[in-house]
Amino acid sequence: MRVLVVGSGGREHALVWKIAQSKLVDKIFCAPGNGGIAKLAECVEISTEDIEGLMNFAKKEKIDLTVVGPEAPLAKGIVDEFENYKLKIFGPNKEAAQIEASKIFAKQLMKKYDIPTADFEIFDSSSAAKKYVEKKGIPCVIKADGLAGGKGVIVAKTFKEAQDAISVMMEDKIFGKAAERIIIEDYLEGQEASIIVITDSKKVIPFLTSQDHKRIFDDDKGANTGGMGAYSPTPIITRELFDEILKKIIYKIINALAKEGFLYKGALYAGIILTKDGPKVLEFNARFGDPEIQVILPLLNSDLFEAMLAVAYNNLSKFLNYGILQWDKRTCVCVVCAARGYPGNYEKDKEIFGLDEVSKMKDIFVFHAGTKIKKEAGKIKYLTNGGRVLGITGLGINLKDAIDKTYEAVKKIHFEGMHYRKDIGQKALKFLN
Ligand code: GLY
Repeated sequence: MRVLVVGSGGREHALVWKIAQSKLVDKIFCAPGNGGIAKLAECVEISTEDIEGLMNFAKKEKIDLTVVGPEAPLAKGIVDEFENYKLKIFGPNKEAAQIEASKIFAKQLMKKYDIPTADFEIFDSSSAAKKYVEKKGIPCVIKADGLAGGKGVIVAKTFKEAQDAISVMMEDKIFGKAAERIIIEDYLEGQEASIIVITDSKKVIPFLTSQDHKRIFDDDKGANTGGMGAYSPTPIITRELFDEILKKIIYKIINALAKEGFLYKGALYAGIILTKDGPKVLEFNARFGDPEIQVILPLLNSDLFEAMLAVAYNNLSKFLNYGILQWDKRTCVCVVCAARGYPGNYEKDKEIFGLDEVSKMKDIFVFHAGTKIKKEAGKIKYLTNGGRVLGITGLGINLKDAIDKTYEAVKKIHFEGMHYRKDIGQKALKFLN
């Protein structure tokens, strides 16, 4: 079969890597892809948001399944357009993707169907929002309603931070229409975990649990990022807790969406916080988490592509009849190497060294995110081309072993200005001891 993967990050490299292992797959294209993906797939220069261009390509190349990585094309309705032309595609349609594309939609749905989440209020004026913060107090969390490239959530620990966040979103309009309305919600305390499932809206297949590290610096300090590293599975989610999360959150939201007339198909990601009152939802995403999927897929022994195909054909229950997903018992860790400046303005075009050496290491995978290839005098060089540049991912017999192996590999990689967290997985190690 012929597959088109849409996206250019570490998530898409991990997806392409796993899909390439399927016996069913003959050829993979990736639009637009990156330097690492180019080794496994034919990269085509079509932007992730050029839906017409992607559709024409899928028709011309007789693509059997298109897999959408990032949220923006989903929110723009890529799935609806493809399905109108009977093109098979993995991902939720525009209405269902609102679960990520509109925080207000998600929060109202959770409230209506009694899915545990922080209390919140919605605002369409900055003055009302600022007055509310003064009355309610801090800390609080300020969220732009729409998609803001992962930057639309601000945890305000002082009144000034809260007022500034409201001003930049609603008065300076740095996110444009995405922050015409905002949410202010209660700040919740606890460890966070990521729960990812795939569903055809009737059947749900859970993936292994994982934990992301969102802040740029060690000890969860500094600005929020797309994710600086992850590990899977996470010991903070016990079997009982996992079942509780599936029952009280995952199945409930998929059923809630269906009751409202939105059939959710594709990957669903729940960012969960474990509070003293039980697990609560921080956010839903309409896609696989990144870097979470980079630590989940190396542990998957089953054919991901076959499961995705079943989702696209609405027959996940049939897929389930002959076997659920099989998982490796080891632990996987990913450390993200980022460019200087990330998550703000970052440097590009720095040569990356050490990739050859790391590629020879056992149980280490390098997923490229912001990289590109430069050919010079017949030689291939890899250059940085994004904020998150590489996800160095390693398997170990336990968490400690996986951390040690992964950092051994990270130390062999170098580019000017490279930044990475030194404490990926450490919170979980402390939890285990
Ligand atoms: N790692 C968080 C996300 O994918 O949104």
